[in-house]
Amino acid sequence: MASKKNDCKISYRSYDVLIIGGGSAGLRAAIEAHDAGSEVLIVSKNRRGDPHTVLARGGINAALGTMDSQDNWMIHAADTLSEGLFIADYDKVEMLCKSAPDAMTELVKWGARFHREPDGRLTQRFFGAHTYRRTCFYGDWTGKEIIRVLMKQVRLRKIKFVDNVYITKLLKSTNIEKTQGAQGKGKEQEISGAMGIDLKRKKIIIFKAKCIILATGGYTRVYPVSSSRIFENYGDGVALAYEAGVDLVDMEMVQFHPTGMVWPKKAVGTLATEAIRGEGGILLNSKGERFMKSYYPQRMELGPRDVVARSIYNEIMSGRGTKHGGIWLDITHLPKAKILERLPSMYDQFKRIAGVDISKEKMEVAPTAHYSMGGVKVDLKCQTNVRGLFAIGEVAGQVHGANRLGGNSLLGTVVFGKIAGREAATKIAREKKRSTNGRSSTSSILGITYNEDKRLAYTLFAVKQPLRILRQVQQVMQENSGIIREGIKLRKAIKKILELEKTFYSKHSVLKSYTDYENVVNTWEVKSALVVCEAILRSALMRQESRGAHYRSDFPERDDSKWKVNIHCTKSGEEMVMFKLPVSKLREPIEELLKAEMKVEHHLLE
Ligand code: FUM
Repeated sequence: MASKKNDCKISYRSYDVLIIGGGSAGLRAAIEAHDAGSEVLIVSKNRRGDPHTVLARGGINAALGTMDSQDNWMIHAADTLSEGLFIADYDKVEMLCKSAPDAMTELVKWGARFHREPDGRLTQRFFGAHTYRRTCFYGDWTGKEIIRVLMKQVRLRKIKFVDNVYITKLLKSTNIEKTQGAQGKGKEQEISGAMGIDLKRKKIIIFKAKCIILATGGYTRVYPVSSSRIFENYGDGVALAYEAGVDLVDMEMVQFHPTGMVWPKKAVGTLATEAIRGEGGILLNSKGERFMKSYYPQRMELGPRDVVARSIYNEIMSGRGTKHGGIWLDITHLPKAKILERLPSMYDQFKRIAGVDISKEKMEVAPTAHYSMGGVKVDLKCQTNVRGLFAIGEVAGQVHGANRLGGNSLLGTVVFGKIAGREAATKIAREKKRSTNGRSSTSSILGITYNEDKRLAYTLFAVKQPLRILRQVQQVMQENSGIIREGIKLRKAIKKILELEKTFYSKHSVLKSYTDYENVVNTWEVKSALVVCEAILRSALMRQESRGAHYRSDFPERDDSKWKVNIHCTKSGEEMVMFKLPVSKLREPIEELLKAEMKVEHHLLE
C-alpha cells in the first residue's frame, strides 16, 4: 500500500542501544548506556530539546528533609503507595523513593539550578498528598531545566540524536537457544530493531539494535482536553509494545489533573501547575465558596489529585461553575514578587494567553487529562517480556498505581532511565563477551534482504483525514471514560471504538498511494490511539469498583477483596485478551508505617 511514487527510499543504521524518545527518561538512559560502553542512538518524534518533559512544571520529589527534617524515603514510599491506592508495584516504589536523593545529587552535580534557601539548602515545596515538603523545583520550569542539563550531558558525550523520526514498528527475532523465557521453556522473542519514518529526509529508516529502550511518554492525548500538546502522547510506545507481544497493565488508570486552563479555546487543557496550590493557591466556586472544605477538610486543595479533580467536577456539574465551565483558582493573596519568583511561567502563561494577571485576578480552571499511570508491563530492571526491549517513564506501568503523586513523574524518568540504560549496556557487554569466547548466541540477527525491507516498508499506509477519526475517538473517550465512568457507557464506548477502527481500516479510508509522510504519522498516531482506547475501556469495564483515578458511578466503593489486582491486556491473534493478577505484597518497613495509618501529622503551609 505504500506509495510506489516514493519508491520507498530506505536507509539503515545499526547501534547497540536504540532509545525511542528524547525526554528526560530517554536522555538519562542514553547517558548511562553510553557510560557503560554501548553505542547509543536516540530517536525522537519531537524536535530535540523540546520533548513533553519541558511541560513538567512544578517539581521533582526526593525525601531530602531540607525543609522538614522528619522526612525520609520510607515516608515518601508510603505516600506513593497510598496515593496509588495500593496497586503500584512495591519493589518499583521502593526503588523510586530510595534512589531519589542520589538522583537529585546527580542533577545538581550536572548543574540543575534548583531553588535554594538563603542558607543554601534546596527549597522543597508542598505538592498534593505529600506528608512533608519534598518537591524540589526551578521556578515552575522544572522539566525544562532537567532537559537542559541532560541535553548538555548528552552533547558532552557526543551521543547521537536524530529528531523528527517516528517509529512505526518494533522488529524481533527468535532466540532458539533460550529455554527459560517469560513463558517458560521454548523459544524466546528477542528485539532486533525498529522501523521508522524520517520526516525531515522523507525516507524510511530501518534500525538494527541489540536493545531498545522505549521512552515514548503516555497516552493522555486520546482525550480532547489534555495537558499534552496536540503532537504528543497518543500512546505510540504502548501500541508498539503491544503489537510486539508485550502485556499492558493498569490501562484504566488515567490521571486527570485538577487544574487546566478552560479558555481561550486554543489553550483548553493547558496545565495550571499544582505548584500554585503548593504555594498557597485556593479553589473557589462561582459563589465564592472554598468548596474543598466540604470534600476534603484534612488537606483541602492539597488533597490527592483524584479527590480534588472529582470535587471540582462535581462543583461544575452542580451548577456552581464559572462562565467558561471551570472554577476559580486564586493566588492573589500572595505578594506579586513571590508569584514571579515561584510561578514565573504561570504568570506569563495566563497573561500572554488569557490576558489575566494572576497577581490581581483569579484563574479559571477545570480538570485535564494529564498522566497515564498504566502502560507497558516491565520488571524491576525495566525489561519487558521481549528480551532486550525495555520501557521507562510514562510509557511503563505499575510505578504509580491508581493515582500518581505530583512530582514523582520527573523522578521516575531519571531513576528508571538510569536503570534501563545500565541494564541494556550490561546485557550487550555480556553477550559480546560470550561471542568472543566462541559461545555465540544462536539468536538470528536481523539480516533484512532487499525484498524483506520492501515488504516491511509496504506495511506502512496512510488514511484519508486521520484527524477526523481522531476527533471522534477523543469525543468517545471524553463522554464515556472521563472522571466518572459507568458500565453501560463503557460498553457503548468499546462498540464505538471498534466501529471507528473498522472505518479507519476500510478500503474507503486507506489511501492507495501516498506522498505525504506527515499524513502517515498522523495515521499511525490514530492507529496507536485506537489500541490504547480499547485497552483503557476494556480495563475500566473490567474493574468493577472505584479506586484512585478510576471512579465508577455504578461501583462507587473500593473493593479490596476482589480488586486489589493489576489488570492486564495481552494480544492473542487479533484479540485483546484481559486478565488480572494480584498486586505485589507490601513489605517492611513500609507495611508497618502504613498500618500505623501514617500517624505523622500532615504539615500544611503556615
Ligand atoms: O502540576 C504540576 O506541576 C504537575 C506535576 C506533576 O504532574 O508531577
